[in-house]
Amino acid sequence: MKRIHVAGVIAIMCLGCAGLADAAEAVAGKATLDNLQAAFNGESNAKAKYEAFAAKADEEGYKSVAALFRAASQSEGIHAKKHAAVITKLGAEPKAEIGKPEVKGTKENLEAALAGETHEKETMYPGFIKQATAEKNKAAVRTFRGAMMAEVEHAKLYKQALAELDAWKAAGKEFMVCQICGYTALSNPALVKCPVCSAPKTKFTMVK
Ligand code: FE2
Ligand code: FE2
Ligand code: FE2
Repeated sequence: MKRIHVAGVIAIMCLGCAGLADAAEAVAGKATLDNLQAAFNGESNAKAKYEAFAAKADEEGYKSVAALFRAASQSEGIHAKKHAAVITKLGAEPKAEIGKPEVKGTKENLEAALAGETHEKETMYPGFIKQATAEKNKAAVRTFRGAMMAEVEHAKLYKQALAELDAWKAAGKEFMVCQICGYTALSNPALVKCPVCSAPKTKFTMVK
């Protein structure tokens, strides 16, 4: 009788363990959903901010910088859509609060954009990917990783524009944006497929 009693206690204890594990998983799942919402909000705001920066660059006569901001804005819109799709798949509603972008001169706008991209590629997305990986949320890992790789290119392009600012006054620079993942690059006729998502060249739009 005593043995049966002990086994019963163990069984009850195990049920308790399972409950704790479920609770821990639910909390962990919430972290990635929160991260997806933060990323959706960030990308939606970046899209609006770069549109405003493009208008300012046009106004100040930095035609090729304006084209870069337009291309990046399109890319951020694609990231926002991709994050939103994963949020919806998880049964939640994507929520973004679009603030009024702080628009300064084109040089300052490029510096602000570079700082934002650097934060996203070095801190924000790596942290989100780590969390989503721990939660085995493959769809979230995929959308975070796709965005992060485009942010790497955005940062490079903003750095280049800052270094060659006077030369970027003239119109003429054209950018390619992958409509599947948002990868952005200076026009490159040799590119046959997207280096991030492998989409064929037909999935790219040209922005100038
Ligand atoms: Fe983005
Ligand atoms: Fe970006
Ligand atoms: Fe792509």
